[in-house]
Amino acid sequence: MTAPAHLSAAKTEDIEIRLLLEAIFQKYHYDFRGYAMASVKRRLSQAREFFNCRSFSVLQDQVLHDASMLPSLLGYLTVQVSEMFRDPLYFRAIREKVVPHLRTYPSLKVWIAGCSTGEELYSFAILFREEGLLERTMFYATDINPDALKRAEMGVYDLDRVKLFTENHRLSGGKSSLSDYYTAAYGAASFDKSLRKNAVFSDHSLATDAVFAETQLVSCRNVLIYFNKDLQDRAIGLFSQSLARKGFLGLGAKETLRFSAHADGFTEFARDERIYQKRDRS
Ligand SMILES: C[S@@+](CC[C@H](N)C(=O)[O-])C[C@H]1O[C@@H](n2cnc3c(N)ncnc32)[C@H](O)[C@@H]1O
Repeated sequence: MTAPAHLSAAKTEDIEIRLLLEAIFQKYHYDFRGYAMASVKRRLSQAREFFNCRSFSVLQDQVLHDASMLPSLLGYLTVQVSEMFRDPLYFRAIREKVVPHLRTYPSLKVWIAGCSTGEELYSFAILFREEGLLERTMFYATDINPDALKRAEMGVYDLDRVKLFTENHRLSGGKSSLSDYYTAAYGAASFDKSLRKNAVFSDHSLATDAVFAETQLVSCRNVLIYFNKDLQDRAIGLFSQSLARKGFLGLGAKETLRFSAHADGFTEFARDERIYQKRDRS
C-alpha cells in the first residue's frame, strides 16, 4: 500500500529538515536538532523562500558550501523578539520577593540566558541599580546569535519602543524614571554604559555548552518554548548546576518546570511569575 502523495511529501520534507539541521551542526556547530519541530519547520520554510531554494535539500547543499549564508540563516532559526521589563509582574516579583534574599549576599552573579538584543539585561541592571545591588553584581548575558549579542552590548533601541518600555518599567514597580538611564538622539535611545559595567556578553549555547559560573539567579525567558523536552531538560540541568543552593530560576510566562526531569530539585517560589528556587540539599 502506498501513502497518499501529500503525506509522503510531508514526510520527505521532515527527513530533509533533519538532514539540513544535521549538516548545520556538523559543519558550523550550531545545534538546532533538539528544537521543537513545528517552529523549526516554519522558520526554515521562510529561509528556503528567502534563499530561493526549491527544497530543503537544495538549501542544505548551498549552506554547506557557502558559509556567508550562515548569519541570515541564524536570523531565521532564532527568534529575536524582546522588550524591556517584559511581563512587568515578573520583574515586580523579582523586586519584591527575590531581591530581599539577594540582598543577603555580599556579591552576586546573575545569568541572563538567551539574552537576545539585551532588553532583559538592561531591565535587570536598572532594577538592581534601583535596589542598590548593581555595584555588587556580575551579569553574564549569553546567546547563540552573534548579531543579537553585538546589539545587546551596544544597548541602543528605537525611540518608538521606549514608550512601551517606560510603561512596563512603571508597572514593574520602577522607583525612578526610565529616562534617567538613556539619552535620546536621532530616533534612538542609548542606554547608560554604567549599566553594563559589570556585564559580560558571550556566545553560549544551551544545546552544546557547559556551565561556566556559580550563580544566585538565572533568568531564561522565552527560550525553552523553542526546545523539545530533552533539550529543555538539558538546559534546566545546566541552570540547576550553575545555581547555588537556594538560588533562583526565572522562566517565561509560557514556560514551566513542572514536567522537567529536574522539577524535584526546585520549589515553586512565585508560581504565577514562573520563579523557582533551588532546594537546599547538601
Ligand atoms: C525570544 S528571544 C528571548 C529574549 C529574552 N530572553 C526575552 O524574554 O525577552 C530567544 C533567544 O534565545 C536565543 N537562543 C536560541 N537558542 C539558544 C541556545 N541554544 N542557547 C542560547 N540561546 C539561544 C535566541 O538567539 C534568542 O535571542
